[in-house]
Amino acid sequence: TWTTTNVVEEQIALIREQVGTKRAICGLSGGVDSAVAAALVQKAIGSQLTCVYVDHGLMRKGETEQVEKDFVAATGVKLRVVDAEKRFLDALAGVSDPEQKRKIIGREFIRVFEQAQAEIIAEVAGGEDVAFLVQGTLYPDVVESGGGTGTANIKSHHNVGGLPEDIEFQLVEPLRQLFKDEVRMVGQELGLPEEIVQRQPFPGPGLGIRIVGEVTKERLDLLRDADAIAREELTAAGLDRDIWQCPVVLLADVRSVGVQGDGRTYGHPVVLRPVSSEDAMTADWSRLPYETLAKISTRITNEVADVNRVVLDVTSKPPGTIEWE
Ligand code: XMP
Repeated sequence: TWTTTNVVEEQIALIREQVGTKRAICGLSGGVDSAVAAALVQKAIGSQLTCVYVDHGLMRKGETEQVEKDFVAATGVKLRVVDAEKRFLDALAGVSDPEQKRKIIGREFIRVFEQAQAEIIAEVAGGEDVAFLVQGTLYPDVVESGGGTGTANIKSHHNVGGLPEDIEFQLVEPLRQLFKDEVRMVGQELGLPEEIVQRQPFPGPGLGIRIVGEVTKERLDLLRDADAIAREELTAAGLDRDIWQCPVVLLADVRSVGVQGDGRTYGHPVVLRPVSSEDAMTADWSRLPYETLAKISTRITNEVADVNRVVLDVTSKPPGTIEWE
C-alpha cells in the first residue's frame, strides 16, 4: 500500500544503496521538489550531501534570500550559493526560441554543478570524488519531456530533456515516480515547514521562460517587479491555496499604445496566467475575483515603468501549457 512513510523508507534504502559511501550534490531551486529531494537524501546519507543553489539571475524577487535562510534553517544542510547571473545571461543573449532557452539553461546548470563539484571535492570532501547529482524530478516532468513512456514530448524540462549529453554525474532522483501532491506529503513527513511544502511550483528555468523574446537583465528586472506585485496581491486576497500557481509573462517583443499620466506610451503587455490544477498535467484557468485582478492590473501599470497593459490568459491545459514557453 502507498503511504508516505513507506515511500520515505523505501527511497532512503534505495538512495543508500545507490550512493553507498560516496558523496552527492543536490541542486536547490527554492521550489518544493528540490527541497524535498534534498531533505530525503540528507536523511539517507547525511553529511555526504552538499546542496548547491545556483543563482542564475532568473529568480523572482526575494527567492535567493529565502533559500539561504529558510531552507538551511529547516534542514541544516550544507549549502553553497553560486552567483552565476552573468554566465546564464551571456549564454542566453540573442536567444528567443523556447526549447533553445531550456536547453541552454539545462546545460549551464550542469556546468555550474560541475564547477561546484570540483570545489567541493577540494574543500569539503578532502579530495574524494562527488559522483552523484540529486534532482527533484517528478513523474510529470519525465512524461512531458518524453523521457517516460516515450509518447509525450511537450517541452524539455530543464532537469530531464534539457540535460546535456556529456553529463558526468550519476543522477539520484528519488521523486521520479511521484506527483506534486505526493511530494508535498513526503515533505511534511520529513518535517519540512509549511512555507516550503506548500509553496506554489516555480520552474527551474525561472523567469527565463516567462519572457517571450530575448532574455535581458532589463526585461528580467521589469518582470520581477510585475511578478512581485501579482504575488503580493494574491497573497493579500488569501488566494494562494486556491490556485496552483500564477505565472506572470512578459511579452517583450510586443508593444501597444497606451495613455499614462498626460502622454502617449508605447509599452509592453504582461499576461497573468492563474491556473488551478491537481498535478500540472492538466489545468484550468482560475476564476479569480475581479477586484483582485483589478488591483493587480492597476498596481502593475502604475508601478512598473514600460508596462502599459495587463491581460488575462483564459486558456485551459490542454490546449495551452501552464508556462508560455
Ligand atoms: P507546463 O508549462 O509544462 O508546466 O504546463 C507544468 C508545470 O511544470 C512547471 N515547469 C517546470 N518545472 N523545470 C521545472 O522544474 C522546468 O523546466 C519546467 N517547465 C515547466 C510549470 O511551472 C508547471 O507547474
